Amino acid sequence: MKNDRFLRACRREPVDATPVWMMRQAGRYMPEYRALRSKHSMLEACRTPALAAEVTMQPLRLGMDAAILFSDILLPLEPMGAAFDFAKGEGPVIFSPIADQTGVDRLRVFEPEDGLGYVLETIRILKKELEVPLIGFAGAPFTLASYLIEGGKTATFAKTKRLMYEHPEAWHSVMGKLSEVVRRLLRKQIEAGADAIQLFDSWVGQLSADDYRLYVQPHVAHILQDIETCGVPVIHFGTGTYHLLEAQREAGGTVIGLDWRTPIGAGWAKVGADRAVQGNLDPTVLLAPRPIALQHAEHVLAQAASRPGHIFNLGHGILPETPVVTVEAVVDFVHCASAR
Ligand code: CP3
Repeated sequence: MKNDRFLRACRREPVDATPVWMMRQAGRYMPEYRALRSKHSMLEACRTPALAAEVTMQPLRLGMDAAILFSDILLPLEPMGAAFDFAKGEGPVIFSPIADQTGVDRLRVFEPEDGLGYVLETIRILKKELEVPLIGFAGAPFTLASYLIEGGKTATFAKTKRLMYEHPEAWHSVMGKLSEVVRRLLRKQIEAGADAIQLFDSWVGQLSADDYRLYVQPHVAHILQDIETCGVPVIHFGTGTYHLLEAQREAGGTVIGLDWRTPIGAGWAKVGADRAVQGNLDPTVLLAPRPIALQHAEHVLAQAASRPGHIFNLGHGILPETPVVTVEAVVDFVHCASAR
């Protein structure tokens, strides 16, 4: 591996410059991604290792210090027995959402080599090609459960929370199945060669800290306490989580994700000096003229104050309308402005 500053920062070791990568860095803002998607559906691209490997590498021309596997957090739902598709303009659609214990009982806990062999094969291909670390990932149980129960995207999480409050046994049973699937999948991704892992709990900020501890934390801990024994950095990510950072830290993660609503200094104080942090540029800042985007990037670096253990990222995924030149300019700027 030619460039290991991302892994060094995850371990809070000194770096020559702050490492940078961006969530959803392979995606619709890139012309080469759109060209590939005009010939293949999203699911086809995920399920064909040569294509998924190609897309994973596309953003590396912009100077990123890590590659993230091209895949999706929803893919494990299909081998569990909950088929879905990405509908144009609507996002994911789960064909038969889970409503009760009977639905939960039908879900299968599968072996990753059987149900998601193509994901592991993509990692094996990438490991032969990459000069930067490869980040594997999975969705966290709350975020996956929300898609499984709502059937798609939601503003209120009403069905999800209703099942949680009204039928706590069914809730813990679906969360138990999801967390065991995710634990097995992440272990196999590491065995296949992933150099780090990110757990995406994108929507968990919807819960109060008390509810998080009661309904979610044990399941996330089931995953992370095990994965942390594998010896690779584990990034624990969520959005809108300022009030949850202590509880997320307890659940696990060597690196904790912060979004733009959390000032890095205050967030890091909650996360603790024994953890690294990742974040936290607002992705919409990349839609502003370049000098303004760079000003905001500079502010992120100033807050992190060159402390060992900061990985520069967005606070959430890059938006499809983002200009490629702005992404490239921010990556260059972070490297130059943070050079030690
Ligand atoms: O970060 C990366 O570049 C790696 C690949 C990746 C994708 N999805 C590719 C993708 C990762 C890590 C994800 C994670 C993911 N997927 C999350 C958690 C992170 C987050 O953004 O909160 C969630 C909630 C999903 C579920 C999902 N997948 C949704 C809601 C959508 C539709 C969103 C949209 O903008 O249309 C997807 C589709 C998806 N996953 C795309 C990509 C590049 C867009 C597919 C396309 O139309 O080409």
